[in-house]
Amino acid sequence: MEIKAAKRISALPVYAFKLVKDAVAELEAKGITPIDFGVGDPAIPTPALIREATKVALDERASSGYPSYIGELAFREAVAKWSQRRFGLNLDPKTEISSTIGSKEGIFNFHEAFVNPGDTVIIPSPGYPPYSRGTWFSEGKTWFYPLDEENGFLPDLEAIPADVAEAARIIWINYPNSPSGVSPSLDFYKRVYQWTQKHNIILASDEAYSEFYFGDEQPPTALQAGRDGVIVFNSLSKRSAMTGYRVGWVAGDERIVEVFRKMKTNTDSGTPTFIQDSAIAAFGDETHVDEMREQYRVKRDLMTAAFEKAGLKVNSPEGTLYIWQRVPTGMTSQEFASELMKPEIAVVTTPGNLIAEEVDGGRNPGEGYVRLALTPTIENVKIAAERISRMRF
Ligand SMILES: Cc1ncc(COP(=O)(O)O)c(C=O)c1O
Repeated sequence: MEIKAAKRISALPVYAFKLVKDAVAELEAKGITPIDFGVGDPAIPTPALIREATKVALDERASSGYPSYIGELAFREAVAKWSQRRFGLNLDPKTEISSTIGSKEGIFNFHEAFVNPGDTVIIPSPGYPPYSRGTWFSEGKTWFYPLDEENGFLPDLEAIPADVAEAARIIWINYPNSPSGVSPSLDFYKRVYQWTQKHNIILASDEAYSEFYFGDEQPPTALQAGRDGVIVFNSLSKRSAMTGYRVGWVAGDERIVEVFRKMKTNTDSGTPTFIQDSAIAAFGDETHVDEMREQYRVKRDLMTAAFEKAGLKVNSPEGTLYIWQRVPTGMTSQEFASELMKPEIAVVTTPGNLIAEEVDGGRNPGEGYVRLALTPTIENVKIAAERISRMRF
């Protein structure tokens, strides 16, 4: 028989990281082990205290049973307590929080809950792909706003046309921002909040990197600007090196959380209960987060110094685990990524154009940049930095 993918699948572009993985395989075939800054999975061990808590939980939860769709109350209370400590928020765990199986699932499916066919969703470019994929699968329309350097990699809300704002149900923002590394101010969140209130649009704030900051100031959350029509997505994937555990949460306007929960009970079966126990243990410790942050700061400093030495302008990230590096004048993203892949450098990056969508007028705001995920070990980052600092542009 003939097997045919649905149009919504076959219409999707090739996943950018497949291209990066192919490039790595090519170097490996030549006997060279590249240093891979391409894919943003920090493959460091999950802290021992979290693994130990998981082992205990496995025995305590000897009978498996289906987990709660929205998270055990104890998990939601741990989220509320952490949010109180970290941001000074008073969230009601009964109504204002729900667990997710990591943010990716929550973000993608969020559109199922709020987008009718033809509705517009306003999305950053470059931006995390599930914002647009989730919109398309819900038969919504995407409208991409550029994250441009001259605008501090922030949305230019005034440039969003009135008819787009009129048709939009959701605007996505993501700070600390992947890939630019820009950290938000409370003032910024207040401005976006005012705009979403004026236009009656849900403010969906992806705060996956809230704990990745390098300065003295901790980034705020959008929920400090207001709760009406605001929903925040966060997870323990990055904060506690738990990408494989799949545990996150949404928090915000209880009316949004209620609809989200209804969607969830129909689409998934929740995060395993013993993993929710691991998450509670993770929330109880900040030491591992401080240590992780310091490691990324060291890697950031090594790489930004190397690019500067090579003669390039550097946007030193204020947060996240990425560097959004400008390419040398006269080169495209792809050309610079290829230059860094030469056997004597063997550094894998993601060309910026591959992770951005065209905005109005056909411009790709990712062109002119490569993205580096600071995920290799410090030893490998040192080697890469040394090789790059010998280049001249
Ligand atoms: C911007 C952004 N948001 C959300 C996520 C989702 O992370 P997870 O599904 O592991 O919670 C990622 C993961 O890389 C990300 O980069």
